[in-house]
Amino acid sequence: MASTLKTVDIHVENGYRVVIGGGLLAQCGQILADVVGLCHAAVIADSTVAPLYLGTVEQSLRDAGYCVSSYIYPAGEAQKNLTTLSDILEFLAAEHLTRTDCVIALGGGVCGDMAGFAAGCYLRGVRFVQLPTTLLAAVDSSVGGKTAVDLKGGKNLAGLFLQPSAVLCDTDCLSSLPPEIFADGAAEAIKTGVLSDEGLFRLFDTDNLTGDLSEMIHQCIAFKGRVVEDDEFDTGLRRTLNLGHTAGHAIEKCAKFTISHGHAVAIGMVIIARAAEKLGWCQESCADRIAAVLKRNALPVSTNFSAAELADAALSDKKRTGGTITLVVPEKIGTCCLKTIPVDQLQDVFEAGLEE
Ligand code: GLY
Repeated sequence: MASTLKTVDIHVENGYRVVIGGGLLAQCGQILADVVGLCHAAVIADSTVAPLYLGTVEQSLRDAGYCVSSYIYPAGEAQKNLTTLSDILEFLAAEHLTRTDCVIALGGGVCGDMAGFAAGCYLRGVRFVQLPTTLLAAVDSSVGGKTAVDLKGGKNLAGLFLQPSAVLCDTDCLSSLPPEIFADGAAEAIKTGVLSDEGLFRLFDTDNLTGDLSEMIHQCIAFKGRVVEDDEFDTGLRRTLNLGHTAGHAIEKCAKFTISHGHAVAIGMVIIARAAEKLGWCQESCADRIAAVLKRNALPVSTNFSAAELADAALSDKKRTGGTITLVVPEKIGTCCLKTIPVDQLQDVFEAGLEE
């Protein structure tokens, strides 16, 4: 194992280790043998990721002694639906996976969410491993156990919590990501900086965020791990991880999902930071700093959708609870809070956030 690997242990009921570093896909069989034992491993990947990495993963698993079956589905956010989920479940059944076997998600957030959901409901639950290959999955979605598919009624409306047995984040996968996919992950990492740590935020205030990303990923996962340990099932503190997501989800919806999640969250962060300044909810102005860092990382910071359109879209979102909605408000870089407002005030908040 390379000496530069970093680890984060996630202390939930079924705790697990996140390993971060180069060359991990080629070593996954030997590492996983110690964690889940030798078994039948069903690797799930999409049609973009499979040609790049599936051969390496299958080889490593077989060399370690695993029986391996692989399922490839067409790439794209639109595939994150009940039909693909059903196809994955039928594949697991056709391959005769048993309770002692293991599902492996090889890919980005969509793959992790769907393969995790399949693992959570196949035979009422089998073990599950995440091998994230995008920055977004590396810094956020591969850790914490949220799994889901989209329904016609909205994003992530069907799902369950299933913590992975292990997360192996091979940073070598990240150097060849297309710039817009890398930027999606940068948005979630910048979000983590705004939530937790000025130093992490400042890592993105540079024109050359290249080279070894493992320290940055380690910081993001260490923070997320602490939040998940405190609130595994997303009833309190974990909701702060949705900074920028109320407006962000609304933007995705208004744009009929032609704007990617990370790009929409970037705009959403600026909207809520501006609103927080205008409405006197923050300790220090930070909207301009957030916008500048997002722009520097090739992310958008404004939208042409109106406050009314965004409020309409947001209020059909799952985060609405009765007559109120809870927003994540940046008080200054490194500190955020939850603020619950009546739903009929949301349009005014967006109005304030959209003003320059
Ligand atoms: N991505 C937000 C969460 O895991 O809660």
